[in-house]
Order: sequence, then structure tokens, then C-alpha cells
Amino acid sequence: METQILVGDDPGIESAVRLLREGALVAFPTETVYGLGGRADRADSIQAIFSAKGRPSTDPLILHLPEPDLAKAVKEGWVAAPLPKSASILTHAFWPGPLTLILRRGPKVHPEMTAGRDTMAVRCPAHPVAKRLLEAVRVPLAAPSANRFGRISPTDAEAVREELSGSIPLILDGGPCSIGLESTVVNLVSPSPEILRPGAITAAQMTGVLGITPTEPFSLARQGDSQIAPGQLASHYAPRTPVFLSLQPIQTPLPGAFHLLFQKPSGVFPGPSVFLDAGGNQEAVARELYRALRKADASGSEKILVDAVPQGPWATALQDRLTRASSGAASWDGQSWKLTPRTTA
Ligand code: TXA
Ligand code: MG
Repeated sequence: METQILVGDDPGIESAVRLLREGALVAFPTETVYGLGGRADRADSIQAIFSAKGRPSTDPLILHLPEPDLAKAVKEGWVAAPLPKSASILTHAFWPGPLTLILRRGPKVHPEMTAGRDTMAVRCPAHPVAKRLLEAVRVPLAAPSANRFGRISPTDAEAVREELSGSIPLILDGGPCSIGLESTVVNLVSPSPEILRPGAITAAQMTGVLGITPTEPFSLARQGDSQIAPGQLASHYAPRTPVFLSLQPIQTPLPGAFHLLFQKPSGVFPGPSVFLDAGGNQEAVARELYRALRKADASGSEKILVDAVPQGPWATALQDRLTRASSGAASWDGQSWKLTPRTTA
């Protein structure tokens, strides 16, 4: 199959709508990462998504809505009633945007989209191309990140082509993603809200609008439980080249490695590297992280050494993705680097 890339303007969206209505797949931009979309109400589209990604069919997908209106989604049969009160508070505050809620699956959603579960992930993306596409298709789309299973999520159209060229007919190009990390996933079917995947919307922001104190259930404690947090593999979001996470700010190169630096080196860094311009700005690190990992992966280096994540509101999400991408830790003892393999759960 030949994969076409079209700009996400009127004609591009028209072509995408035609394909999606027929049950075919289209990759499209969201503000977090690019998604691989297919009709949420059709078994053939859902099966095509799992097969294009090489993703196990036990790993449920996210339903993407055109509007931030959950009551309407319930009325139309995409989400099941009753809606928890926290759902309307969170959607009011953060939709459209990078927040995914776990709710109950509505009767119109094909059971294979949720891997047979009666719970379901739902989000309303903010990217203008995603919004226009969802409005025009008039059927919510199931859309996982548009990468092969276990690999780095794509944050531009070219990265989608690297991942899925030949297995999907169309990629809509909406430029580089403004966030660059997958959405925060929060479980609202549990007795109290709990974060299953950290992202741009932080625990502090959510507890703030919910008027609750951040407690244990809001932590990431239960991520290891595949019943509650399916698809949260310890090893995930990974380049092919082994990744090591430096425990200190990198000052000396690791022989054979490509370096991702988060603090500006004094002078020219004596090794292959990219500097993700933090300048105290974690959003910039998040936006560029996956692109930098792809570049490092393509460099032919034996290893990738990633700098210590600077403190700040996005540190939890950055640390989560980097840990899943990594093979181990690296520590500089003043004379040489020591590499310690990671023990995975
Ligand atoms: O930012 C994003 O969320 C992107 C864009 C394209 O919207 N999508 C994305 O989809 O990251 P995906 O399929 O790569 O990740 C979906 C996450 C997985 O961790 C999955 O296990 C979780 O949502 N999830 C889906 N349904 C669930 C359910 N019923 N219960 C718990 N977690 C669920
Ligand atoms: Mg994914």
C-alpha cells in the first residue's frame, strides 16, 4: 500500500474523511502526538489499527471526540451513564486538551476497541486539524499513537512515515506537535481518581480543580497492575539503541554514546549530542524529546545517554517516559561512567 502525506487543509481533510468513512485508517496530528485513527464503531477499522501497529489486541484504545461535551457523547451512545461528577469538572477545566479519562464504554463503541472491557479511555484533542477531522467524519475515532508497538510515539508527519509507511493509506500533516508527550490518563471508574499515565496535565492541576488533596490514589502506585492500567509496559516508548539515564547532569561524554543534553554545556560538548533547549523550560524538552530520541537512534551510536531531568511540573511525565525507554542508569564517579542495567517489573 502506498502511503500519501497530505497537508491537513480542506482537501486533505476531505480525503481523510472519505477513507475513514469507508473503514480505512488515517494518521492525524493531535497536540500531544500523532494518532492512528479508525472508526470506533467498526470491527474492521479497529482490527486494522491493531494490525498496522503490531499491537496486542488486549491493549485498549482511546476514543477521540470532536467536542468537549460528555453529556452529548452519552446521549449518542459513545459513553455509558452515569458520568462521575469529577468527569464534568475535569472536562470543563481541561478539554479540549491533553487529558484522557477512563469512563464506562457506551453501546456504540465496538467492544474490540476496549479489548472487551466495559471501561474505556476518552479524550477530546485540541489540535485544529484533529478537531476539524473529527467534526467532519461525524463518528468518534479510535486512535492510539501512530507508532509501531513499543516504539517512540511520532511527533511529526515524517516520524509517522518512518513508523507506518506502507501499512496505511494517508497521513495528515499538521506540523510538529506542540506538547510532544502522550496525554495524561486518569481513571474515574475507581473509587477515587487515579493517574494511570502522567502527562502535561499534572496531579496538582487536577486536584486543584477537583478540590481534593493529593492523596495516595492520585499517585502512580498501581501502574504495575495490568487490570487497571493495561498497556503500561515497563519497557515502552523505546528506540532500538539502548538508552541509559544519567543520574547527574552530563559533563563528560560516555564513549560510543549519543548524548541528549538538558543543560547547556560550557563550551562545545566533546561528543555527538543534541541540546534540548531547556533554559529552565521543561515544555521545550517535552516537545523535542521524542524527535531527539529518533535522531539519536538514527545516529548509529551504540548507546544513548540522556541527561538528568531538571525539576519542574513536567518532571514526572518526562521521567516516566524516559524510564520506560531505558535499559539502565549511568553514573559518573569522577573518573569513569558506570552503567547499571535496569530491572524491569
Ligand atoms: O495523547 C494521546 O493520548 C495519544 C493521542 C493520539 O491521542 N494517544 C495515545 O494512545 O497515546 P495509546 O493507545 O498509545 O495509549 C492509550 C493509553 C494506554 O496506556 C492504554 O492502556 C490506556 O490508554 N487505556 C486505554 N483504555 C483503557 C482502559 N479501559 N483502562 C485503563 N487504561 C486504558
Ligand atoms: Mg502509544
